[in-house]
Amino acid sequence: MSEFIKVATLDEIPPGKSKLVEVEDVQIALFNLNGEIYAIENVCTHDGGPLVEGSVVDGHVVVCPRHGARFDIRTGAALSFPAFEPTNTYQVRIEGNDVLVESPI
Ligand code: FES
Repeated sequence: MSEFIKVATLDEIPPGKSKLVEVEDVQIALFNLNGEIYAIENVCTHDGGPLVEGSVVDGHVVVCPRHGARFDIRTGAALSFPAFEPTNTYQVRIEGNDVLVESPI
């Protein structure tokens, strides 16, 4: 069973916003999509671009700020060139006002 670690509070990530956190030396980008929090590794699989700095389009797609690859924030799937591999995603649990993410290791 995964261990969940508190990484933020809900009021730090209002709808439409993102936040970078670090868990076990892994950088994780949290996104609030319409009230749902999602966690993906903050690493574009093309060349390591910081996905937390990307714009969110179509409600659930982040555009890498480096060369424009697109990822589905909900699944980590790479949606467009120049990225082909998905980025990691992590389960999120909300407890009261706390945001917990599954341990990446
Ligand atoms: S590093 Fe993300 S598209 Fe190149």
